[in-house]
Amino acid sequence: MAKKSIDKWQFGDFQTPENLAKEVIETLKRNHAIQPDVIIEPSCGKGAFIRAAACGFSGSKILGFDINDQYVAEANSSVNGFFSSNEIQINQSDFFDTNWEYLIKNLPGYILILGNPPWVTSSELGLLNSKNLPAKSNFQNRRGIEAITGLGNFDISEWMLLRYVDWLSNRQGMIAILCKYSVARKVMRQIRQGRVTQFSGYIYLIDAKIHFGASVDACLFVLTVDIKHSGYEVYERLDLKQASYVIDDRDGFIVKNVDAYEKWKHLVGQDPHYIWRSGAKHDCSDVMELELVGNYLRNGLGELVDLESNYLYPLLKSSDIGNRRVKLNRRMVLMTQKSVGEDTSSISENAPKTWRYLSEHSSYLEKRASSIYKNKPPFSVFGVGEYTFTEWKIAISGLYKKLNFVVVGPINDRPVVFDDTVYFLSFYSAEEAEFIYKLVSSKPASELLESMIFWDEKRPITSEILRRLSFKALAQELAIEEQYFHWIQAISKSSQGQLKLRIAERNLAYLARQKDDVKKAGCI
Ligand SMILES: C[S@@+](CC[C@H](N)C(=O)[O-])C[C@H]1O[C@@H](n2cnc3c(N)ncnc32)[C@H](O)[C@@H]1O
Repeated sequence: MAKKSIDKWQFGDFQTPENLAKEVIETLKRNHAIQPDVIIEPSCGKGAFIRAAACGFSGSKILGFDINDQYVAEANSSVNGFFSSNEIQINQSDFFDTNWEYLIKNLPGYILILGNPPWVTSSELGLLNSKNLPAKSNFQNRRGIEAITGLGNFDISEWMLLRYVDWLSNRQGMIAILCKYSVARKVMRQIRQGRVTQFSGYIYLIDAKIHFGASVDACLFVLTVDIKHSGYEVYERLDLKQASYVIDDRDGFIVKNVDAYEKWKHLVGQDPHYIWRSGAKHDCSDVMELELVGNYLRNGLGELVDLESNYLYPLLKSSDIGNRRVKLNRRMVLMTQKSVGEDTSSISENAPKTWRYLSEHSSYLEKRASSIYKNKPPFSVFGVGEYTFTEWKIAISGLYKKLNFVVVGPINDRPVVFDDTVYFLSFYSAEEAEFIYKLVSSKPASELLESMIFWDEKRPITSEILRRLSFKALAQELAIEEQYFHWIQAISKSSQGQLKLRIAERNLAYLARQKDDVKKAGCI
């Protein structure tokens, strides 16, 4: 890779277009009516925000900094002699070596921290072997930072934003920066958890594809020291005066749309009868997943394989579920266990060819790094239980950016197994699956789930979010609670705590006759 592009990468270098910087300043003036005494652009690049700020805020002192001396020179010559009503100083400086506390302490009045910090993550910098990172000791000692390091990867802009937040503790000011929408939410969480100074938050969504050619959800993130409201207002565009919705904490988690959540929060609740699970995990697709090639099976190593059918199941992946391709499978998966930790030695008797295949490829399976496989029977899989092998399921991909539930039945009389990016509920009958599908795809369910899902997350849909939906409450909302009680009456807990449907009770007509008994049993 050319040196120039490596530098662009490691310095997260996406210069803000002039018109976007101007629009940002207009938004701050129109919606926030500020007149800052001092404006700081901590990584000003070629100076788009310096020029826009000088045009918009006459009389403000403007301080710009950037690590790149060519940019600093360019920014300086672009302002020299043009903005007589502003004192402007632009200097070369590495953000991580600058004594910001000293600088800020000596600045009077209302401070606006403005700009567009580097768009790069710590893991990308690791790949590039770059030193453009906060010093480790300083970094790890920071309040609230454990949460970031715990993730293993963090956006440099997130770290910088938390520093800006610290600079404004105990003084008047505003932060207005362009960043990923996900970074704004992480900072919001950090402020709430660990910071003494609280802020009002505003998020103006911008189209990063148009402005920066970047495929990421981005925003102008504004934090003001005055606390006007606890939630963070979200504006769909920079030119809007009215927020479209408000993000806030509700019941221990951050919800995307407070009004929609409040409308449907009576549908939130644990449902012990229908538990969302994630698909199976084996971490060795080359050996465990087999492509159907005519009458043959081919593994990921390109070998044609002949195996007994008893441990093979049709596999559907996120892409199949997301695209509703559920009638046919392209792959089979070896499910070596019926429950986590089950002894696998019986495979040698039940399916000698499968046992030989697994033994011959044991080196691939033994290489699996995750600690979950340590001290477990050979060829173990995870995310497996009685629920894996029921014939009927409702599935949704955690990766797709759509609430797209689908009923999945057996393929060639075999229950379907999903990969671990799919979430599903399991049922023993098509009727029950269809009934729950009606609930989960209803308008109230969609609106409640939508109010909690941030679609820009890598995995926007999680089992944690899905599990917040109470099917009982939903059935009551849709006035079909009797059917719900019929079905749960038909479920009994096995000794292992797995949910099991009594075969004799599968029939809806039969269940309808049990209505009164259910009531008497105190389920209603
Ligand atoms: C996303 S660009 C934005 C530039 C400018 N703020 C704008 O809006 O056009 C990020 C800038 O951060 C600068 N930068 C990267 N690492 C830095 C560091 N450690 N200290 C100071 N500036 C840095 C880059 O040189 C680049 O100009």
